[in-house]
Amino acid sequence: MQRLITGLLVLAFVSPYLCISSFVGTTNTVYNVIDFGAIGSGTVDDSQAFLKAWQQTCGTQGDNTLLIPAGKVFLVNSITMSGNCTATSISIQLQGEIVAPTKNAWVGNSLNLIMFNKVNGLTIDGSGGLIDGTGSTWWGCNCPRPAVLTFQSCNNLSVKSLTIINSPKAHIHINSCMGAIFSYINISSPGNTPNTDGIDIYYSQNIRIEDSTIASGDDCIAITGDSSYINATRIACGPGHGISIGSLGRDDAYNTVEEVYVQNCSFTNTKNAARIKTWPNGSGFAKKITFEQITLSQSGNPILIDQYYNQYLVQEGVQLSEVTFSGFQGTSATDHAITLNCSSSGCFNIVLDQINIVSSKPGKPAYCSCINAHGTATDTVPDCSCLST
Ligand SMILES: *[C@@H]1O[C@H](CO)[C@@H](O)[C@H](O)[C@H]1NC(C)=O
Ligand SMILES: *[C@@H]1O[C@H](CO)[C@@H](O)[C@H](O)[C@H]1NC(C)=O
Ligand SMILES: *[C@@H]1O[C@H](CO)[C@@H](O)[C@H](O)[C@H]1NC(C)=O
Ligand SMILES: *[C@@H]1O[C@H](CO)[C@@H](O)[C@H](O)[C@H]1NC(C)=O
Ligand SMILES: *[C@@H]1O[C@H](CO)[C@@H](O)[C@H](O)[C@H]1NC(C)=O
Ligand SMILES: *[C@@H]1O[C@H](CO)[C@@H](O)[C@H](O)[C@H]1NC(C)=O
Ligand SMILES: *[C@@H]1O[C@H](CO)[C@@H](O)[C@H](O)[C@H]1NC(C)=O
Repeated sequence: MQRLITGLLVLAFVSPYLCISSFVGTTNTVYNVIDFGAIGSGTVDDSQAFLKAWQQTCGTQGDNTLLIPAGKVFLVNSITMSGNCTATSISIQLQGEIVAPTKNAWVGNSLNLIMFNKVNGLTIDGSGGLIDGTGSTWWGCNCPRPAVLTFQSCNNLSVKSLTIINSPKAHIHINSCMGAIFSYINISSPGNTPNTDGIDIYYSQNIRIEDSTIASGDDCIAITGDSSYINATRIACGPGHGISIGSLGRDDAYNTVEEVYVQNCSFTNTKNAARIKTWPNGSGFAKKITFEQITLSQSGNPILIDQYYNQYLVQEGVQLSEVTFSGFQGTSATDHAITLNCSSSGCFNIVLDQINIVSSKPGKPAYCSCINAHGTATDTVPDCSCLST
């Protein structure tokens, strides 16, 4: 264990006969999982060493760092790192590799490989590191499958330069967090893997995801209820099912989503690009949603509002309004360039502007179609005059 003292040495001369010295500032202590018994062989279970290192990192005063060193592979088996922490701040340096056990070796019924619960002010830097979810041992199983990384009730979170591959299910869950920045995240699973969402956001506010690459078998990013002030910027998505609001209103739920900005993103060989999906029997709303500066390359359903998700019943459902799609360029792999399927009560203030989507198959058409969609289309190809005011 390495202890660094930073700060000012203050000498106070109170009288010619008395000299008081004290430290003003902070201690930065690095807790290396190796010092807590981790082996890093890739086959011996290092979970207990990680948890012991976490107890010190979280439970000791100061600005503390948990180090997962380079050049080793650490097998961990469903661990939870919980707050409340005594530490002023916690930084995790993931320089080595973390690998999940195979399905048959999975211990316990927790559905997370690594969960952070109630840790405020956490920063994670994954430069040089990797987390491998060993998903191939799970994908064929029609059973509950774990996520790789879950952040629950973590406020003021910052995660950068993290690579996660081959999750059994979602790669990252963000649940009930206020204030998070994810940047330079690289998520990679094959396009044909079941429900391997990139990043799922639930019950969270003020979340930014930036400058990241997501290849997966389901939504690159899914923003579900009840979440607001979510920005996804400069994301390269594909393969995958696009960036989705929803699904909302599942199992008759009341869900709300508002203030979502998806900007400067690209979609390459994705099943959808900008999608909003709601279940007919739910309630609540999604509003103030903007997708802008979007580049498409062979994306199926580039713009899709689907209020009949998995159903054909026409019901009122979740109310959609103030949804803007602006600055879309590129090719659609299907003839459904723009589909606005709204419920019987309608969607309102839908704005299409500066859209130019053509079929990726030369000479084939690409269409816009609407059901109960109200708003305006300007400078939009294909023609979308079915969008009425
Ligand atoms: C954790 O901190 C929160 C906020 O300060 C507090 O409400 C809660 O009681 C604490 N929980 C525990 C187990 O100390
Ligand atoms: C996040 O950190 C800022 C500045 O340190 C602080 O003012 C704010 O209360 C924190 N927010 C939460 C939700 O913990
Ligand atoms: C993301 O990680 C995968 C797997 O390690 C790698 O093949 C790919 O090059 C990385 N992509 C970026 C943009 O860093
Ligand atoms: C999200 O994007 C909007 C629109 O560009 C911007 O006004 C807002 O400040 C951004 N929010 C964050 C937290 O970056
Ligand atoms: C988006 O891209 C445009 C054009 O390349 C650029 O002017 C703008 O600054 C970018 N915005 C963001 C939020 O990255
Ligand atoms: C939605 O409601 C209808 C009518 O009450 C019912 O028949 C249907 O099963 C419900 N669907 C779901 C998914 O709950
Ligand atoms: C939109 O509605 C039309 C007409 O009911 C239907 O043919 C089409 O499959 C729907 N699109 C989607 C993506 O649900």
